[in-house]
Order: sequence, then C-alpha cells, then structure tokens
Amino acid sequence: MRIPHPIPYQGSKRRLAPAILAWSPPTVERIVEPFAGSAALSLAALATGQARSVALNDANAPLMALWDAIVHQPASLAEAYAEVWDGQHGREQAYFAAVRAEFNRTAQPQHLLFLLTRCVKAAVRYNAQGAFNQSADHRRRGTHPNTMRRQILDTARLLGNKTSLSAADYRDVLSTSTSHDLVYLDPPYQGVCGPRDQRYAQTISFADFVEALRWLNQREIAYLLSYDGRSGSKAFGQPLPSSLHLQRIELDAGPSAQATLLGRRVVTHEALYLSPALLRRREVVTYRSIM
Ligand SMILES: C[S@@+](CC[C@H](N)C(=O)[O-])C[C@H]1O[C@@H](n2cnc3c(N)ncnc32)[C@H](O)[C@@H]1O
Repeated sequence: MRIPHPIPYQGSKRRLAPAILAWSPPTVERIVEPFAGSAALSLAALATGQARSVALNDANAPLMALWDAIVHQPASLAEAYAEVWDGQHGREQAYFAAVRAEFNRTAQPQHLLFLLTRCVKAAVRYNAQGAFNQSADHRRRGTHPNTMRRQILDTARLLGNKTSLSAADYRDVLSTSTSHDLVYLDPPYQGVCGPRDQRYAQTISFADFVEALRWLNQREIAYLLSYDGRSGSKAFGQPLPSSLHLQRIELDAGPSAQATLLGRRVVTHEALYLSPALLRRREVVTYRSIM
C-alpha cells in the first residue's frame, strides 16, 4: 500500500511507522499525536485502517497551518505550491532566499512546503527571533508539482473528516485525551541528535515531560513513546524513571546516515516505550484472540 507523505520532515517516522504500529492494538478509535511533525504514524494508521480518526498537534503554528491547507484546501494548496516551484527556474539560488524571506513575512503554507522540499535535510530551523533560517540544498529542486499534487490530494482524502488539528503545547492536547485514545509521542527533547537539538522552535523540559507521562499513567491512557536510541554502541537520551513502568523495545532504524558518510556501517536503534495501560490493553486483546 502506498501511504501518502506530503511534508518532507527531518525526524519523520515514515520508515519506522509500520514497526511502531505493530505494537498498537489492532484498531483504535483515535490516535493522538501531540508532536505531529509530518504525522507519519497517523497517516500510516489511517491508511491501514488501524485508526478510525486522528488528532494532530504541533507547537509549530505555520506547520499546522500547512496541515490545515492540506486537509481543507488541497487543490488550491497544490496550485499555489506549483506556482512557487515554477518560479525558481534559472535563478534557483537567489529564489530560495526570496521565498524564505516571504515566508518569514507572511507565513503562507505553500512557502513553507517549498522550503521544506528544498532545504538542507528537510530540517526546520528557526533563529532566536523565530525566523526560518535553514539554508537551501542546491542539489535539489524540490518535489515536482505533479508529484506534490498527488501527495496532497491523497493525503486530503485519507485525513478527510477524520482529523482534528491544533497548534498548542503538547500538554494542552494530552489534557483532552481519554482512555479510548492511543497517544503517540515523538518529542524533540532527546533523539538521535542529542540534547543540544536546534531543529525546532520549541524544546521541552525533561521534568515536565516525565510529569505528563505520569499523568497519562494515572488516567489509564495508553501511549507509545519514541524517545532515546543508540547508534552502534553510542547511546542517546536521559533515562526515563523506572517508576513510569514503561516497557522498552528497540527498533532497527537502519544504517546511520552520519556513519555512512564517514564510510562506516553503523546500525541505529530507536527505542519505543509502551505504557502500562497499553500493555494491559494488549494483554486483553491477546487473551480474547486465544479464547
Ligand atoms: C521529532 S519531531 C516529530 C516527528 C514526527 N513523528 C514525524 O513523523 O514527522 C518533534 C515535533 O515536536 C514539535 N514540538 C516541539 N516542542 C513542542 C511542544 N512543546 N508541544 C508540541 N509540539 C512540540 C516540533 O515542532 C516537532 O515537529
């Protein structure tokens, strides 16, 4: 099955989504993604019928405006993207800087989409003033408008009326989740990039995050958490307290891009944590299926 993925995004879980969803119950009423980014997990869960609906949230407001345009105005977004993309021919280098300046002035979704398809590592980076300051990757022209149109329209069909969108702090979204949901958390705090992560406009505090996980446990809310990882023998991430009673699983995330560049083959592992409520739900499903 081809799962649409319109937004190129560093840290996207596109490739790992099937391995993560293998730990979810077979069907869930709603997947809540408080750190949605490119929403790779929600798109995969809807495409495979594992989720009936999704709630996407990200603190990056222009990114959520882009999601809003994908869901509610797909055809005009595809057209606006094509117009921006077409404008680059013959002046590619200066054009990227002009679109970036325009995005920083007007925060239009088609500009952000173009910047993400053309910038280094599809990585969102902002300066201290909140302006997008990632540079162009001049080896790329960005996704062709025909391909992008197909991605956008397929995504809009998939998300349709099954999606709610918000641009808030993750804790605001968690406070609206219930025990019928499956929450998928992929926070920016510590990934394979280490704690000095400059990728996002916002980072989160470890203490607040642990508190939020405790709150979810108390309310019997099931969650999956992508958190730390290791590349070869090098581990990343501050350990989570054992009092959260999480089960840790290691997923093979493929060869490390950094190591490959240096001519070594080092496999990166990403950790996935299963919450106590999810472990109990999985036990019930297993028990029912053997009855
Ligand atoms: C690792 S990325 C998520 C990637 C996503 N799983 C995907 O497949 O693309 C983390 C996201 O958290 C967002 N973020 C950072 N701080 C946040 C906060 N306090 N509340 C909500 N989102 C936040 C960032 O903007 C970023 O998009």
